[in-house]
Amino acid sequence: MSKVIIRAVKIEDIPYINEIRRMEGVKENILGISSERLEYTEEFIQNIDINKHILVAQLKEENKVVGLVGLNVNHTPRLRHSASIGIMVHREYQGIGIGKQLMKEILDLADNWLMLKRVELGVFADNEKAIKLYESFEFKIEGRRKYAAIRNGKYEDEYIMGRYNI
Ligand SMILES: CC(C)(COP(=O)(O)OP(=O)(O)OC[C@H]1O[C@@H](n2cnc3c(N)ncnc32)[C@H](O)[C@@H]1OP(=O)(O)O)[C@@H](O)C(=O)NCCC(=O)NCCS
Repeated sequence: MSKVIIRAVKIEDIPYINEIRRMEGVKENILGISSERLEYTEEFIQNIDINKHILVAQLKEENKVVGLVGLNVNHTPRLRHSASIGIMVHREYQGIGIGKQLMKEILDLADNWLMLKRVELGVFADNEKAIKLYESFEFKIEGRRKYAAIRNGKYEDEYIMGRYNI
């Protein structure tokens, strides 16, 4: 049985989200940075607009948040059928199905409630765990961006992946 419930983000979740974004085992593979202030996360969550959808995974037996997925719908009129996704799971809770549950919920929102045609994301080219997760939800690699992002003293490549609801 699942350890978590998936629900919309709340203001009380901010400290957990900030902690996950800065932790080893997560920050390398998202664009997190250890100096990221709590106030920055607070501002981000407080200013979520109608085109940003954030779901979190909360442990059933306590209030602790251990994962998050965000869907950012493009607001440009002729791109409004598309959105980008970002996901992270607390280091100590990875590999037990939480990422899969978060993806399933956010893609149901994208497919059936927003009726988006295209969902896209960027992922470090060596992040096999995440790539496997995305491929299991029918994302396809569309291209490679060379030297796309900094990670621990190097410029690393990322894949652009896309999934089409057609
Ligand atoms: C990538 C991430 C979101 C996956 O979430 P998770 O909760 O660990 O993944 P799950 O346990 O739900 O596993 C989902 C799928 O991911 C893949 N996966 C998970 N752990 C894996 C591992 N150790 N090796 C290879 N594939 C793995 C598998 O395809 C798995 O499906 P399966 O169990 O049916 O084989 C999570 O590990 C994470 O937050 N990593 C750090 C941040 C990050 O990389 N975010 C994505 C940035 S693009």
